[in-house]
Amino acid sequence: MAPSVAEKTAPANTLDAVVNTVKDLKLEGTNDAPADNTAAQDEDKGPSYPAYVPHFDVSEKFPPLEIFEHSDPGLRADPTKPHLLANATTRDLSPYIGTELRGVQLSELTSEGLDELALLTAQRKLVVFRDQDFKDIGFERQIAIAKHFGPIQRHPTSGNVPGYPEFHVVYRDSKNDRFREYDGPNRLSRTQWHSDVSYEKQPPGTTLFWILDQPALGGDTQFLSQVEAYKRLSKEFRKRLEGLRAVHSAVAQAERSAASGGPVRREPIESEHPLVRQHPVTGEKALYVNQGFTRYIVGYKKEESDNLLNFLFDHLAKSTDLQVRANYEPGTVVVWDNRLTCHSATPDFEVSKERRHAVRLTPQAEVPVEGKVDED
Ligand SMILES: [Fe+2]
Repeated sequence: MAPSVAEKTAPANTLDAVVNTVKDLKLEGTNDAPADNTAAQDEDKGPSYPAYVPHFDVSEKFPPLEIFEHSDPGLRADPTKPHLLANATTRDLSPYIGTELRGVQLSELTSEGLDELALLTAQRKLVVFRDQDFKDIGFERQIAIAKHFGPIQRHPTSGNVPGYPEFHVVYRDSKNDRFREYDGPNRLSRTQWHSDVSYEKQPPGTTLFWILDQPALGGDTQFLSQVEAYKRLSKEFRKRLEGLRAVHSAVAQAERSAASGGPVRREPIESEHPLVRQHPVTGEKALYVNQGFTRYIVGYKKEESDNLLNFLFDHLAKSTDLQVRANYEPGTVVVWDNRLTCHSATPDFEVSKERRHAVRLTPQAEVPVEGKVDED
């Protein structure tokens, strides 16, 4: 029998290449509580947070995920959000998506405050916390806070932290450019709309992402509201989508990782999800397709599926009036509802001169529930 993708991971010499690339950065230490380093970024000094430099161990393996019962914390939230917003200043980024918060520390939120954050994130799709100490509170506290929203997905291929596979590390500098490794240099744009790991049976919900090092300009994350994208469709078209399911696949991601000498920690899976899903807290319906992982519509012939999916992907990408950009300042943490949004990195900075280093924790949520057309 042919070996599986997970079994075909890199030979030792390619792993050595990855390890040596990391060693080139002259990094030391994996302390649980990395030192606060707010000094100006200096390429020669290496990353400000070396403990979070991505780690790729091709021998690391995970068992398949198991289905769990998810009760969303947003269901328990006080709708007036006193624990989250009592001392906060809020600024909406657009009518449909995105709210910026100042004056509140994510790290100090009580259980009630985290419930309210889940609700606010579901309502606004994206919350941008400024001036946070979250990056300095250490691995254990970061993970404990994220776990409030659900079991944390351990990424099957991306860089993580030794002993802490919950962390998904995003890292680019002059010697490491995973975007280029994945996509090659021959594209007009490297915009890649996707929702994270939508191939899981229980894809992520409330998702945390914080910046450690950033370029002087650029490197934003673009977000769009799949709720508003769904609302824009005519009722007749929404009826056409009702009942349809699409396959989301991890296979290409695993194959790319294996081909570039990276890990495949878990056998890549494919999941069927409804094209329209309903949020368990707000009841809002969202178009649930993304160009990164949605491959085909179940029961359609190839041309039918390609046409419909490409129309929906175009709709999402071209509707700039339902998109926002989250930019980063030192201490920024962004929280998004991965069930209701797509996002794309913006690799618009000069990677030969600048470093961008960020970390994600990705709590999983419910098995997607189909959203039906309202009878109004
Ligand atoms: Fe992503």
